[in-house]
Amino acid sequence: MKGLKFISTGRCVPPKIVTNDDMSRIVDTSDEWIRTRTGIAQRHFSDGESAVDLAVGAARQAMERAQVRPEEIGVCVVATCTPDHAAPSDACLVQAALGIPEDVPCFDLNAGCTGFLYGLETVRGLLSLGSKPYALLIGCEQLSRVLDMTDRSTCVLFGDGAGAAVLGLEEGALWEALLGSRGNWEILWVNGPGPETAAIHMDGQGVYRFAVEAIPSCARTLLERSGLTLDDVDWIVPHQANRRIIETAAKRLHAPIEKFYQNMERYGNTSAASIPIALDEMNEAGLLKRGQRVMCIGFGAGLTWGGALFQW
Ligand code: UT7
Repeated sequence: MKGLKFISTGRCVPPKIVTNDDMSRIVDTSDEWIRTRTGIAQRHFSDGESAVDLAVGAARQAMERAQVRPEEIGVCVVATCTPDHAAPSDACLVQAALGIPEDVPCFDLNAGCTGFLYGLETVRGLLSLGSKPYALLIGCEQLSRVLDMTDRSTCVLFGDGAGAAVLGLEEGALWEALLGSRGNWEILWVNGPGPETAAIHMDGQGVYRFAVEAIPSCARTLLERSGLTLDDVDWIVPHQANRRIIETAAKRLHAPIEKFYQNMERYGNTSAASIPIALDEMNEAGLLKRGQRVMCIGFGAGLTWGGALFQW
């Protein structure tokens, strides 16, 4: 089966920035605690924008940069665990806003923070079954809506935002992907939807232990399957949850930390949006060059995990 190629990327975060000092006025925490335990300095919180507004902003930017017309989109997927409504999906509302024609599957996909990676494999399959050339894949979260602002162990970690990509299939393109799930809800779950009941519940250390195992194990499997070594990979773009998780994973892989892109300092953990936001920042900054090999690795509620290895 053909591999995916990133044609373009985009991102959209709400303008309101909430610093660690701002958080310390809401719960008993400090800039020092949050920075040293997580690497996070600030996050963006919606202030009137809906999740769909963010998804549309990121998607519009990616579509404009790709110079792709709505009629050329063959599938539109939003990876999210915080959609605006149980139904219709965020993806259908993105479809309406962008004028994507009716003969296109549009739906949301929930694989927690691994959502964007599940989305890549999903759109790869659907594109190969259809006749249109491009997929629109968005990772979008409005986590501020489901934060328990009395729980300092979770509310300081997360942020809002969306990242998008226009993707196409290419014969012979490097493509390795793996996805998995453990069927375990006790460690990380979000109840809701509905602001009156919604909240993130998390056993932080449980997620930590899972993540520092999942990242190296995904990376090793992708390398084994592709016949490549870590030296052949230019960038590792992990889910942006916690700097210490990434540092521990890098040590376990004997990989230089400079290979791991990190931006949780500016956004916090944006769940399914974190990898596409990171890819878009890197793309915009000229860090990603055509031909470079990139490995994305995600982990999150489910517990799910996933990875993709491809050429930019
Ligand atoms: O997308 C996946 C999402 N989840 C994650 O990535 C979570 C992964 N886990 C983690 O990142 C870390 O476990 C945390 C950052 C959540 C917590 O760090 P930790 O080093 O595991 O701290 P801890 O839970 O062991 O708590 C240590 C102390 C406790 O106080 P005592 O009992 O030692 O007095 C907590 O009450 O830190 C306290 N604490 C805080 N203190 C200040 C917990 N949260 C805070 C806070 N500010 N925000």
